[in-house]
Amino acid sequence: MKTTISNLSEHVGKEATVQGWMFNKRGSGKIFFLQLRDGSGIAQGVVEASQVSAEVLEKAEKLTMESSLKVTGTVTRHPKLENVYEMQIKDIDIIHLNTEEYPISKKDHGIDFLLDNRHLWLRSSKQWAIQRVRNTIINATYEYFNKTGFIKIDAPILTPNACEGTTELFEIDYFENGKAYLSQSGQLYIEAAIFSVGRCFDFGPVFRAEKSKTRRHLTEFWMMDAEAAFVEHEENMKIQEQLISHIVEKVLENNLPELAILERDIEPLKKIVPPFIRKTHAEVVHELREMGSDIQENHDLGADDETILTKKYDKPIFVEKYPAEVKAFYMKRDPADQSRVLCADLLAPEGYGEIIGGSQREDDYDTLLDRIKKHNLPVSAFQWYLDLRKYGSVPHSGFGYGLERLTTWICGLEHIRASIPFPRTIYRLTP
Ligand code: 4AD
Ligand code: MG
Repeated sequence: MKTTISNLSEHVGKEATVQGWMFNKRGSGKIFFLQLRDGSGIAQGVVEASQVSAEVLEKAEKLTMESSLKVTGTVTRHPKLENVYEMQIKDIDIIHLNTEEYPISKKDHGIDFLLDNRHLWLRSSKQWAIQRVRNTIINATYEYFNKTGFIKIDAPILTPNACEGTTELFEIDYFENGKAYLSQSGQLYIEAAIFSVGRCFDFGPVFRAEKSKTRRHLTEFWMMDAEAAFVEHEENMKIQEQLISHIVEKVLENNLPELAILERDIEPLKKIVPPFIRKTHAEVVHELREMGSDIQENHDLGADDETILTKKYDKPIFVEKYPAEVKAFYMKRDPADQSRVLCADLLAPEGYGEIIGGSQREDDYDTLLDRIKKHNLPVSAFQWYLDLRKYGSVPHSGFGYGLERLTTWICGLEHIRASIPFPRTIYRLTP
């Protein structure tokens, strides 16, 4: 097995070679402490004049930040810290010596500078930690679905119709067909697929031409949509609760060092176990008004409303049964109150707000046709979707999470932009 910084513990007392980059350097003359990173972790390499040749010492001296190198030495335990390993370096092979000063240093850079240099910023330890947590979230999602009988179905990105409202669509010219739209969610397509495979999920980039400038919005983000036949509103929420709990559990299992780098308090994460809090939209409006919000009974929750509400609780909150008029055309009406839909948004605690949107779907042909017309959507573009209600229609439900919203919350970030490797917002398309 190749030696990496993450498996140094298996090489204590032995000689090992590690390839990577020089993250930082302290010392001078007789002793150098090299902070090395290799993608799997960070470790210190000690270069002592009395232990190495003059040539190796000279290399240590001239090494610059982020130069790439190969080091060989004996692996030792850190004299004081537990589970920390070091290398007593014997040899250094410089792979690429940076001659220009590395643009990102320890000093405080403005966010615009960092985002302009995102291709380099990704190497910083916090950014490294975020991407590792994001990776765990992705894997935990696949794991959960694999063990509960959902299969992955890939939805198209170029689509002829809107999924979540026509005001936030990216439009492109599409040969003789006229216009195509970048997908806002794969939901409608995986709805078709459940009639084949029963339960499924997709996971891919989606696009929203939203003019929102908040710390929660991107124009391109990764969504996971899940859908299941014969699942109604209540069970839909149970699945979400289990999925989110599983994801947080996996992050706590795999990423404690990363969460420490991010200075994320893990106590709130330990509380993420079923059951989550459930409140109806009507209850929440009442509660918010008592807290000083001016939200109206038939309004959607604003970002501020979500913030103040979720700061009050230490568990995620399902807000159920929104007024139909603020939600998408495909949601099934609540039989007990036709003005509301059988939906739930899942709001993350600590002020984070919405991470999931989901609902039971309208499964009656005529009712759905009526909704499509009332939403001024082109019936012809939705004929295939209506067909699903024509041949073996069944009650079904689903939901979608935004990967960056989840990552932002779990990592405890202030803004969504660092949760994705290369953020796209209304102001930013580069690098
Ligand atoms: O609530 P949304 O719009 O729901 C749907 O798209 C449904 N079709 C999902 C489904 O039922 N299969 O989006 C789902 C989630 C939100 O809860 C949020 O986490 C995230 O996607 N999201 C965004 N994330 C970043 N930037 C944006 N502009 C986002 N818009 C939604
Ligand atoms: Mg939503």
